Amino acid sequence: MRIAIVYYSKTGNTKKVADLIAEGAKKIDNVDVKSMSIEEIDNEFLNEAKVVIFGSPTIAGTFAWQLKQWLDAAKNVSGKLGAVFATANYVGGGAEVAELSMIAEMLVKGMLVYSSGVAEGQPFIHYGAVCIKDGDDGQKERAKIFGERIARKAVELFN
Ligand SMILES: Cc1cc2nc3c(=O)[nH]c(=O)nc-3n(C[C@H](O)[C@H](O)[C@H](O)COP(=O)(O)O)c2cc1C
Repeated sequence: MRIAIVYYSKTGNTKKVADLIAEGAKKIDNVDVKSMSIEEIDNEFLNEAKVVIFGSPTIAGTFAWQLKQWLDAAKNVSGKLGAVFATANYVGGGAEVAELSMIAEMLVKGMLVYSSGVAEGQPFIHYGAVCIKDGDDGQKERAKIFGERIARKAVELFN
């Protein structure tokens, strides 16, 4: 079962977090994970993926217009399980708004949404993983746990 991680990253933080989430997801058996920038989408992989995890930097308190533009045009995400993560420079800088804005668009696209929330105990991950820049040690660990949880849920739902 394929899991695609689709992100926009200008200065590399979001890419690094995408790779951490991929590392966590790969801990689960029977999943094939690929992390890809919107500038280098593997459409064949994405078409086959049952799960798409979107990541964005927080830009002016919401998600990047580049990813919005990509999502607006995306035709191959409906019906898939989706999850989100964001990077930001500051706590309170809008990462959660960025995440909820992505989630709003995913619902419009007909995606299913999961974050693990409080359902899987600590650490709680309410809307999606958040890292300040590319994350301190705790945030990096949470990003890996987030990837693992999404992959486990996907196997439960789709395998
Ligand atoms: C134009 C611009 C606007 C930004 N706006 C915010 C913001 O509103 N809140 C915040 O916390 N960080 C903001 N940032 C910081 C980025 O979200 C942060 O550095 C992010 O990790 C960059 O991701 P990237 O390295 O993947 O491009 C902004 C950065 C840029 C370039």
